[in-house]
Amino acid sequence: MTTLDIYIEERLKNEIVRINISNSKIIEIFLNQGSSFGSNHSTTLLSIEALKFLCKKENSITNALDLGSGSGILSILMRKLEISKVFACEIDEYARNESILNFASNFNNKVDYPRFIQDPLHKKYYYNLIIANISGSFLPNNFLEISNIITQNGYLIISGFNSEKEQKYSILAKECNLLPVKTFKDSSWLSIIFKKNEINT
Ligand SMILES: C[S@@+](CC[C@H](N)C(=O)[O-])C[C@H]1O[C@@H](n2cnc3c(N)ncnc32)[C@H](O)[C@@H]1O
Repeated sequence: MTTLDIYIEERLKNEIVRINISNSKIIEIFLNQGSSFGSNHSTTLLSIEALKFLCKKENSITNALDLGSGSGILSILMRKLEISKVFACEIDEYARNESILNFASNFNNKVDYPRFIQDPLHKKYYYNLIIANISGSFLPNNFLEISNIITQNGYLIISGFNSEKEQKYSILAKECNLLPVKTFKDSSWLSIIFKKNEINT
């Protein structure tokens, strides 16, 4: 589970990211000043769009994994979208500490914090939803392992790549029995929601 890419996004001051969920609902996420990735980049915003879409359509998601949490923005959003158990994973200690700081700024009670998990691809714990905004070779190299820890009828959201890689991911997903649900685009960046197909025995 190694990656050589470096992820930094300078936040020179504290920020509040406001996410329109519906006409009457806005979710606010407080992010402390820092340099972990995850606030205004297109790949994060496309991940947010995919999460909003999925959580509106599907209310059976009870546990989720944020693979590569960075600032923790997606973990925080998933908790605020009322997914009851949210797990976060991050290989960069600096980013992990920023995630934890941001969890503390968004939830009064520690029991509401997303929980950190190490090496989830090698644990026998399964998720209704995995979201991974990680560029480079990590996703393609670990697609099967990621798919293996998604429950039947569960979802995978991927982001962090451009349209040149769309076909490659579609092929990988098909091999893992993941069917495309919806694609979100912003200039050349993409995020895709896949659903794990139920296997008939
Ligand atoms: C592009 S950032 C995404 C941050 C945030 N989830 C977002 O959507 O804005 C990718 C994050 O994944 C982390 N990462 C990269 N490879 C990883 C791996 N194998 N396991 C866990 N985290 C990883 C990086 O350190 C980085 O913080």
